[in-house]
Amino acid sequence: MTHPFPHLFQPLTLRNLTLRNRIVFGSHTANMSAEGLPGERHLGYYRERARGGAAMIVVEPVPVHATAVLTRGNFRHSDDGVIPHFRRIAEAVHAEGAAILQQLYHVGAHADWDNSFEANWSPSGLPSMHDQDGSHAMTEAQILELVEAYGQAARRAREAGFDGIEIMGAYNALLEQFWSPFCNRRDDAWGGSFEKRMRFSAAVLTRIREICGERFVLGVAISVDPTRPDVLAIEDHMEIAAWHDARGLYDYVTVGTGSYFEFTRIMPTFQYGEKLGPPYAAQLKQVVKHARVQAESHIRTPANADEVIRTGEADMVSIVRGQIADPHLANKAKEGRPEDVRGCISCNQMCWGRRYRDYWISCLVNPSSGREFEWGGDTFRPADRPRKVLVVGGGPAGLEAARVAAERGHRVILAEASDKLGGRFRLAGEQPRRAQILDLIQWWETQLGKLQVEVRFNSYMDAEEVRATGADAVVIATGALPAETGYQRGLPTRERLTGIERGNVWSVEDVMGKAARLGNRVLVLDDLGHWHGLGTAWALAEKGHAVTVVTPDPQIGRSILRTSGDWQLRRKFAELKVETILESAVEEWHGDSATILDFLTEQRRTLPFDSLVLATVNVPEASLAKDLEGSGIDLHLIGDALATRQAPAAIFEGRRLGLKL
Ligand SMILES: Cc1cc2nc3c(=O)[nH]c(=O)nc-3n(C[C@H](O)[C@H](O)[C@H](O)COP(=O)(O)O)c2cc1C
Ligand code: SF4
Repeated sequence: MTHPFPHLFQPLTLRNLTLRNRIVFGSHTANMSAEGLPGERHLGYYRERARGGAAMIVVEPVPVHATAVLTRGNFRHSDDGVIPHFRRIAEAVHAEGAAILQQLYHVGAHADWDNSFEANWSPSGLPSMHDQDGSHAMTEAQILELVEAYGQAARRAREAGFDGIEIMGAYNALLEQFWSPFCNRRDDAWGGSFEKRMRFSAAVLTRIREICGERFVLGVAISVDPTRPDVLAIEDHMEIAAWHDARGLYDYVTVGTGSYFEFTRIMPTFQYGEKLGPPYAAQLKQVVKHARVQAESHIRTPANADEVIRTGEADMVSIVRGQIADPHLANKAKEGRPEDVRGCISCNQMCWGRRYRDYWISCLVNPSSGREFEWGGDTFRPADRPRKVLVVGGGPAGLEAARVAAERGHRVILAEASDKLGGRFRLAGEQPRRAQILDLIQWWETQLGKLQVEVRFNSYMDAEEVRATGADAVVIATGALPAETGYQRGLPTRERLTGIERGNVWSVEDVMGKAARLGNRVLVLDDLGHWHGLGTAWALAEKGHAVTVVTPDPQIGRSILRTSGDWQLRRKFAELKVETILESAVEEWHGDSATILDFLTEQRRTLPFDSLVLATVNVPEASLAKDLEGSGIDLHLIGDALATRQAPAAIFEGRRLGLKL
């Protein structure tokens, strides 16, 4: 049989390195350091991806200078004390057969005073287009100070045993701010003509080469954002890359998408198409004659990656979220079993969603991400004593608990009340562009099949039936049900929405499960600010309903904001003419109209609607757990049946319990 990915597993030379394949775990701020030092969390995280077959790992960026600090979890800048800590990571990654580089960054005008406590340095002192702060126009002495700071940061990486460094010029970071005539308005030797605008990056790369020697790999990361007139276009980048390449200043260039002005395209959610960086990589390859070209951005799967290499769009690919979601993506692809790859669902909920809040990152589909040091990686420890485990409920919590328990050697029965797996998560997969969720449910189904889990469909279990199974441990993962009260955060003392009994009121589950009979004008009461209600509103608007969303929040998609999906959603709403009413609640439902209370003006208005859809907090369905209380059975309550939350909590609890049983 021919290999499914014949192009991806060809070795590649990169300066003095030979990479074992074309898959790179590209740089991203994992934000995991403790006191600015990489510790056990980092070590476990990178080692797992190297063990999983990635050819090269680019460790998260080190800010090169006090003015470059951006996150609470940033590594210490300008401090040789980091070297022994990084050496442990370099040794662990090398021991697994992967190359390791470190990213270095300075984001110029876009740094964060609240973390650095330094004014932001930039070429011309322009305000950041990313946040509210202005910046300081560097003196020549300060420019030279930064050139040396890059050199010293690279020296630390080399002394720690890294194979090279990558400089982040992407997303309008400092390198691009020097390159761009829009950001660089200097009239001295560092700005003006094309050559003068190249001087900073050339000085930095030359200094690093001087310090780190001929064997050290030098890469530069760039990005393209065709929607922004204020960042460099691909044509500019082609000219810049050709200039650096002709002078042999770097060994590879990697191209992603998006910019600091709008994070949404940096790590594209499911709202975007796939393989966004490769077309730009292909353009760079036309002009870059010596260096390697890497493509980034939503490449996600081995099939996509192989296609990029096959078509010659790039020499190598960075897959970041795909390998956060499945650290063993590369090995599974190499072994010809892509059906075992746990696909990233492009949700950004736990990776960027946690980085956005300045926490260390993890993953919705892979809660072991960032916890490898305490939970182990993807190869689970076998159970000390294999037991018979009954899991009741085939939603994400139950599926994950069943999978992990079975993989550890337990004999597992999964009882699901309906005729399908996935629970309410399956309904989310029916929302526009969210079919990756259905792929994930299919992945669980495949894995349970391989692990010989006995799945009993249409099996609504009562306490008696549970006892009759003779299970040694019982996992209750029965999920949650719509509250059907219309309770709203904004009106916390009212247990029920006045007039809810007047009819034409449906839950999100009714709508997505196709049980609702809706009129044309639909009011979605979104008390949650995430995809539950908003993806449903989108689905209804796409079907032609006249949709209005009312929320107590000051913006649509408050919980989606952290995933960088909010702007694109609001854009979609604008396109579909979805009306939005902010900072308001539904005070009364009349069956054919709603009285809406505006929290700011305290005014009420009554608007006509045919149907009301409630996106409010669901209630745990834990009656089986109650019935089994005191029965002496080893009972475990997880997921929404314990407390209603989003999918990451359910999968996390399923994994944690599966590892413990
Ligand atoms: C949590 C997170 C943090 C990131 N931080 C960085 C960073 O510090 N430097 C960088 O060059 N790219 C960063 N990126 C962008 C990634 O390198 C990559 O371009 C992006 O995730 C798209 O690729 P993917 O679809 O394979 O994830 C980050 C991405 C994520 C998800
Ligand atoms: S949290 Fe979502 S987007 Fe991020 S890696 Fe995991 S599945 Fe992918």
